[in-house]
Amino acid sequence: MLIVFATPEVFPYSKTGGLADVSAALPSALADLGHDVIVFSPCYRQTTSYFELREGDQPEAFNAGTVWIGDDNRELSYLVHRSGRVTHVFTVNGHYFDRDRLYTASDGRDYLDNVSRYSFFCRAVLAYLAQRDLSPHIVHCNDWQAALLPVFIAAAAPGTRFSATRSVLTIHNLGYQGIFPAEQIYATGLPWERFNIDELEFYGSLNLLKGGIAAADAVTTVSPSYAKEIQTAEYGFGLGGFLEHHGAKLSGILNGIDTDTWNPASDSYLPEHYSVDDVAGKRASKATLQQISGLAPDAGAFLLGVVSRLDRQKGIHLIADVFPSLASQPVQLVVLGAGAGELEQMLRTLADRFPKQVAYLNKHDESLAHLIEAGADAFLMPSTYEPCGLNQMYSQRYGTVPIVRETGGLKDTVLNYTANRLEKRTASGFTFRKNDAASLLKAIKAAAKLFFTDRPAWQQLVRCCMELDHGWHSRALEYEKLYSGLVSPAGTGSDEHA
Ligand code: ADP
Ligand code: GLC
Repeated sequence: MLIVFATPEVFPYSKTGGLADVSAALPSALADLGHDVIVFSPCYRQTTSYFELREGDQPEAFNAGTVWIGDDNRELSYLVHRSGRVTHVFTVNGHYFDRDRLYTASDGRDYLDNVSRYSFFCRAVLAYLAQRDLSPHIVHCNDWQAALLPVFIAAAAPGTRFSATRSVLTIHNLGYQGIFPAEQIYATGLPWERFNIDELEFYGSLNLLKGGIAAADAVTTVSPSYAKEIQTAEYGFGLGGFLEHHGAKLSGILNGIDTDTWNPASDSYLPEHYSVDDVAGKRASKATLQQISGLAPDAGAFLLGVVSRLDRQKGIHLIADVFPSLASQPVQLVVLGAGAGELEQMLRTLADRFPKQVAYLNKHDESLAHLIEAGADAFLMPSTYEPCGLNQMYSQRYGTVPIVRETGGLKDTVLNYTANRLEKRTASGFTFRKNDAASLLKAIKAAAKLFFTDRPAWQQLVRCCMELDHGWHSRALEYEKLYSGLVSPAGTGSDEHA
């Protein structure tokens, strides 16, 4: 199959969160299954900087004329870069994408012209395919920034290039829907008729994700539990009923992780390598992490790690609430993350109060993220909601026991420790249900107790975590099955795209 993957961010060319990791690894796993995959994303300032550092491995550039966005005629060009078996195409327009941040201004608010920016991106994807005379079997779109593509494709006239193309829309986080003032529909080039309650209208505003959900042939999200949760009022962000209405085409496919990038046996960011057969090298990461972050150099301390966007979604406030109750024990905490000012301040205050026990690293740093995964004993993710979450899986692979709230993908990837499950080798972390500080504290205390009082059992739990297979292969097969079902629906026996 020819699969187009359209995403607003893709590692290592651009990244704000887990979507970038998924957008790198899933296309590559699909290419390994024998498919032709083209990944489209915008050429941001981050992307240009990435290429500036890669001498001798430059993308091919070509101009492609202009695109109308509302009343503006915008220049379009592309950069094409081959990475492994995957072709990356970056849509270039300096006015739209050469900015400090990807989606928001420095005050954290959406750029005012985001509808124009991502209408441009979606139009540019289709323009590239037309120029290269390509008719993909599948256009797989990710999040609100690519959600206009299913709308544009569904509007394609019968018998034209995209009339046999099927669209898939993946929701990585329903908390971000792309909601803008109604009149901005003008920038999309879509007629006002589409601004109705079944498509793009949402309480009087324009909702790009909603339009994409209505138009896509299939909608997926990134874990089976989250697929159920988003059809409820509690987790639906106003779209619960709408998603339930479209439930027949909605499914959840768990994310995987890139097991080459995240491999303690070969990770270049670690002072010593280690594996499930010999975890001794993990101690060196712990010592380095304590040293770098200014924590007491105590090999016996129970070191908790966090790597996260600082957002209410991630339950960071609960961590700040519970730490003082743990501080009388040799417990340490290192947090790497940036984001909401109030949460950054909360962590700074905590680190000032417990300087030898709490370190707050306020930045985005790939190497530190790896070092924390390796050097911590346990990893905290007390999320209010979590579509999938990748860090709990990275933690498991690095023998760092996740402590998570039972929600979304966390529920689908972490099975709470009990002595019985440890014996059956199915335990893979500590979990708690209620979204409150007391429940988190109880889970951390249960983990600390095992760590301090039964080290052989703890080591056994570490092994169980490290033996889990979160690779993309089996998960890419699930996407392949979904695509095949759309392209040749059961019973027709024909493949009109062949
Ligand atoms: P989300 O996409 O909601 O932020 P995920 O768990 O899916 O959550 O993915 C988070 C990704 O972002 C991981 O790859 C994680 O390592 C990375 N990350 C988050 N904050 C930082 C940071 N401050 N420095 C480095 N990597 C970070
Ligand atoms: C989103 C979600 C996260 C998920 C990631 C990749 O950012 O918040 O849970 O792992 O997308 O799908």
